[in-house]
Amino acid sequence: MDLQTKLNETTGFLKEKGIGQVDVALILGSGLGELAEEINTPVIISYDEIPHFPISTVAGHAGQLVYGELSGKKVLAMQGRFHFYEGNTMEVVTYPVRVFSALNTPSIIVTNAAGGVNESFTPGDLMLITDHINFMGTNPLIGPNDDKIGPRFPDMSRAYDVEYQQLARETARFMDLKLQEGVYMGLTGPTYETPAEIRMARTIGASAVGMSTVPEVIVGVHSGMRVLGISCITNMAAGMQVSLNHEEVVETTERVKETFKALVKEILKGM
Ligand code: HPA
Repeated sequence: MDLQTKLNETTGFLKEKGIGQVDVALILGSGLGELAEEINTPVIISYDEIPHFPISTVAGHAGQLVYGELSGKKVLAMQGRFHFYEGNTMEVVTYPVRVFSALNTPSIIVTNAAGGVNESFTPGDLMLITDHINFMGTNPLIGPNDDKIGPRFPDMSRAYDVEYQQLARETARFMDLKLQEGVYMGLTGPTYETPAEIRMARTIGASAVGMSTVPEVIVGVHSGMRVLGISCITNMAAGMQVSLNHEEVVETTERVKETFKALVKEILKGM
């Protein structure tokens, strides 16, 4: 079955379930999933009910779409995303973004947990993503291009919307909240990086590393969506602290989530 047919079936189902206009799509990474609980008059749809939708395998991710009103905007949130390291193809990882685009969603906020590479960062910092480095060794747009969705060779010069970046900075200032900024480098995982890889990451201009986001952003840009990205720096990257583990990542997201949620809600008001 071709992509367009699948998308028609998926969006047809979602519309039947009550999903109407979407102003902003949200991909809620580790720790931020709770934001979906604040959506008013929610329509909640489990991924396993949705035709052609993949199923999330990572513990701690709810695996559902939540639609409703948040900060005066109609939002469609993904509580739990699909990672490449789970064995999903890039097509599967980015299918939800294709769905958002098929629903005519103009904007997307992408969030994640990331390791800090910039030596001035501290675990618990939030980082506005100003650009990214695709270090996943592949690209979700490899394969035939559907010119009705987007161009064969998308321009990535301003992948992260410049006005949204400014809005995020101003919102953080208004909230008296420190917002770091920098370049997110996406690797496949599931291993954390080696110290040598982190030295390379820093040398080539990365401020943070993580295992998601890049594929979704590429597909968002391809389909003409305005993208805002925010990372939660959950730990310092390999070689910058004694050892790394998932528990620390979860602990930090737990510690920071109230601030993270407040920032995203406040930014939404201005979008
Ligand atoms: N590396 C890669 N992904 C991550 C990290 C890290 O240090 N922390 C949270 N996600």
